[in-house]
Formats: sequence, C-alpha cells, structure tokens
Amino acid sequence: MKENIITNISKLTILKLGGSVITTKDSFFTPNKKAIIRLAEEIARSDVKSLIIVHGGGSFGHPVAKQYKINKGYKDSSQIIGFSKTHQAMTTLNKLIMDSLIGQNIPAIEIQPSSCMITKSGRIQVMEQRPLTKLLRMGFVPVLYGDAVLDADTGFAILSGDQLVSTLAIQLNARHIIIGTDVDGICTADPKIDLSAKLIHHISLSELKKLQPNVGKAKVTDVTGGMFGKIIELIPAIEQKIKVIIVNAAKSNNVYKALKGEKVVGTIINKGVENGAKPN
Ligand SMILES: Nc1ncnc2c1ncn2[C@@H]1O[C@H](COP(=O)(O)OP(=O)(O)OP(=O)(O)O)[C@@H](O)[C@H]1O
Ligand SMILES: [Mg+2]
Repeated sequence: MKENIITNISKLTILKLGGSVITTKDSFFTPNKKAIIRLAEEIARSDVKSLIIVHGGGSFGHPVAKQYKINKGYKDSSQIIGFSKTHQAMTTLNKLIMDSLIGQNIPAIEIQPSSCMITKSGRIQVMEQRPLTKLLRMGFVPVLYGDAVLDADTGFAILSGDQLVSTLAIQLNARHIIIGTDVDGICTADPKIDLSAKLIHHISLSELKKLQPNVGKAKVTDVTGGMFGKIIELIPAIEQKIKVIIVNAAKSNNVYKALKGEKVVGTIINKGVENGAKPN
C-alpha cells in the first residue's frame, strides 16, 4: 500500500444513524427505505474523509432482543436461537444500509460487533481494532451497528450503537460525534409525550448531568434506553472533550450540515467550563 493514499484519521467523525430514523420503530421489521437512501446521499454529498458510521436497531434488533430477553443475559438454552435471530435482524437491516451507501459510491465496509467484541456485564471488554483502523487509514468507511454480543459475565448482552459510538470515539480519538435521531435534540422533557418540551440548543456536561432525571427512555421498544441511555453512554466521550451534536436525522439535510460543520438545529454538548478552564 503506497503511503500517499493512506488517510489521516486524526479528524475522525463518528456518525450514528438512529434506528428511530432508518426504520419505523412502532412496526415490526419495517425499514424506512426513503430515509436510508436520503441519508446515504447526504453522507456522500458531504464528502467527509475520515468517517465511521454506526447504526441502531430500530424495529429490527430491539423487538427480537426483548422477546428473547437477550439484554438480561443467558438464563436458559431457549434464548440461544434468540441470540441468532437478534443478530440476523441486525444484519438484515445492515444490508439495506450497506446497499444504499455503496450505491452512492461510499467505500463502506460492515464490521460485525459480535465477531470482534466481547462485553463484560454489558460493557465492551475486548475489541479487535486492527482491521478497523487499517480500513480507516486506507480510506474505507467502516459501518458498525448495535448487536447481540457474547459477554464474559452474563453469557451474552446487547451492545448498543450508542455505547459503540462513545467507545470508538474515545479509543480512536475522534474529533466529533454526530448523533442522528428522530427528535430535534435533547429537550426539557420527552417531546413525544410532553408537547410543551423545549429543545436545548447547547448544554455543558454539568448541566447535562443535572438534566438526566428529566430525560426519558423511548415510548416504543428500545432495549438500550432511548435518549436516557444515549446520554449515559455519551458522557465518557464528552469528558474526553469530544464534541457531540444531536440532530434530527429524519429531517432533510441535517446530517449533511452536521457533517460539513455548518449551523444546524440540534443540541450541542461539550465539556464546558470546569475548574476555570476555557470552554472548548
Ligand atoms: N428529554 C428528551 N429529549 C429528547 N428525546 C427524548 C427525551 N426523553 C425521551 N426521549 C425519547 O428518546 C427517543 C430517541 O431515542 P431512541 O432510542 O428511540 O432512538 P434511536 O437511538 O435513534 O434509535 P435506536 O436505539 O434504534 O438506534 C426520542 O424519540 C424521544 O421520544
Ligand atoms: Mg436508542
């Protein structure tokens, strides 16, 4: 491999495509093909050079994982087939994403978390990173997803796309994280339940920690905790001064603008002022 075609990964962006956008979350196994195609086009148009995409489970992974209680760990052998079915649901959704990305000439390569990661009580313990970093350096766009994985303590677990985003961002020293979901950002309450909820445009880490009790899970099946789960997962990355923006990926051009670093409606989270330090 010649040096001059190896990309610098120091400006790495990690983009999460929420299952709430790429699927219809309240009906079983229903992709939102229009949204998948539009998002692939926005990603291609942004022409971002160093990018990892992580997608969620939506109506594919979550209901199957819930049915077989995969998120509760191994209890009996009847769950084994459920583990296979949860993973299969995710690869079925992943195939649609891959088709759209490659259809837009994005050099996307899927990486199955269940094949290269093991959790311990639900937290990533083992992650084989070498293929991923080599792919990035060569200019590929690795695509990962929330998955059923083997767990050192509980037999198996659900590794959320949100945990993946945060862990990858920290370990690969990403510049920023863009979270695409089906609401405009973090609101003062769940906007799907409380119509008076207001969007928070900018929030520091300490404010975010105070807000946590007002942030709910999701109304529809989400074994990884909706917006609440997302915030818990993102906190360690924000601690490392990685900028996070949450945007509504169901609305055209928001993901494009976020990838380009343009002004976009959403919630920007950064570490903020602490111990007299300057805001980042
Ligand atoms: N304070 C809040 N602000 C914004 N959204 C909230 C809040 N509290 C709860 N939510 C809910 O969190 C949901 C987003 O989380 P959810 O896990 O459903 O989406 P996702 O992560 O995009 O999907 P997936 O987990 O399948 O990838 C929103 O649809 C919203 O209803
Ligand atoms: Mg979720």
